[in-house]
Amino acid sequence: MRENVLLIGGGGREHAIARALEGSECDLYACAGNKNPGIAAIASDVETLETTDPEAVVAYAEEIEATIAVVGPEAPLEAGVADALEDAGIYAFGPRQEEARIETDKAFQREFMVEHDIPGCPDFEVFEDTEAACEFIDEYDGDLAIKPVGLTGGKGVTVIGDQVTPEEGKEYIRESEYDELVLEERLIGEELTIQAFVANGEFQTAPAVQDHKRAYEGDEGPNTGGMGSYSDATRQLPFMSEDEYEHALEILEATVDNLEGYKGILYGQFMLTAEGPTVIEYNARFGDPEAMNTLPVLETDFLEVLTAARDGEPVPDLEFAEQATVCKYVVPEGYPTDPEAGAKVQVDEESVARAARATDDSNGDEPRESAGDALLYYASVDEREDGIYTTTSRSFAVVGLAETIDDAEGIAEDALAVAGDEGLHMRHDIGKADLVQQRIDHMDELRAE
Ligand code: AMP
Ligand code: GLY
Repeated sequence: MRENVLLIGGGGREHAIARALEGSECDLYACAGNKNPGIAAIASDVETLETTDPEAVVAYAEEIEATIAVVGPEAPLEAGVADALEDAGIYAFGPRQEEARIETDKAFQREFMVEHDIPGCPDFEVFEDTEAACEFIDEYDGDLAIKPVGLTGGKGVTVIGDQVTPEEGKEYIRESEYDELVLEERLIGEELTIQAFVANGEFQTAPAVQDHKRAYEGDEGPNTGGMGSYSDATRQLPFMSEDEYEHALEILEATVDNLEGYKGILYGQFMLTAEGPTVIEYNARFGDPEAMNTLPVLETDFLEVLTAARDGEPVPDLEFAEQATVCKYVVPEGYPTDPEAGAKVQVDEESVARAARATDDSNGDEPRESAGDALLYYASVDEREDGIYTTTSRSFAVVGLAETIDDAEGIAEDALAVAGDEGLHMRHDIGKADLVQQRIDHMDELRAE
């Protein structure tokens, strides 16, 4: 049977999902608040609607006779879109509202870990009272991460000793007036993401990815939704051992075992500390940008994964190409604090692919050891009659794929060169040998302490 797949969401992550379904036995339909030109080029139809409005999503799903839905972002999950689709008889690959609390409620997430004795949980306290939280900061022996309980698009967390002093941390708490906060021990190490495909009580994982949250090079500046990310040709990252990867999988397994009925992606964000991986947070969906590292190397038919999940069959073994990936997001200048929209996007999928093919040493760097590909993923852009323009969110991403991180990085840079930089900002350091080496050295230092 040919499936009708409804994709919910219009960012870079959803463009990657759309591409993973392209060429499979399905017709793709998509709905989002924006019109993503990359998704529009693949889908049979795209509808602009409020994806946090379950009724609107269900009405469109019924109109296109969807047989499966894939929920990209967290906001629709929080709004109960997966529940509403299922109540209408349409399988949703994405957890129901209650299970999505593993992401949408950080206090619930931590209490869940304690209740089920899941390893890798930092010390934490939950506060509803601002002054009690401030007092805790005064009394706590060590630095703390300040985390609003609800969704903040990756921009709500502030870490004492890293971004702010204790005084500034208290000021932040008093000024931001969140209803509920988690204060937790500051973890020191290297961050990494492991995404698990979960269905019918089983789970399988993808290669680890390292995202870069900070807006500017050298990990400076405010937190963002993620400026770019890389993965290696193996499951691990260069700064982690196989044992450490396995340890993270054990944490994920213990989590999935206690999330009965969970389906979709469980995204584990870990801090690899000297003592091993610790959970920074869970997300109930693919990462953005991490989906753009993972889905291009997924060799298993993603549609088969979805239909097996829906039909209660074992999910096929996930195979990943042994390729490294480097993803770099291009964002409007001033992002995330003062983004300026309206720059014209100069690249398209063809020019990016051409850039990858054309060069071996176009940057004057060492010739690459391996050939590779470049991909373009559109995110929050605005398609007008005379072209594609930036909005105030992340605009598009380029991904380089090759045998090594270094080569993949060079390919991503060649693709960026086509894009120019007028009105745009990007982090050129992501995936560069220097920065990767700093991560390795950092972990070596911590382990030696
Ligand atoms: P989140 O919104 O939970 O992904 O957090 C955003 C960023 O805050 C993470 O990527 C980390 O860099 C940082 N962070 C969160 N929790 C901690 C923690 N306990 N210790 C150190 N850094 C943290
Ligand atoms: N890359 C971070 C996130 O998707 O939340």
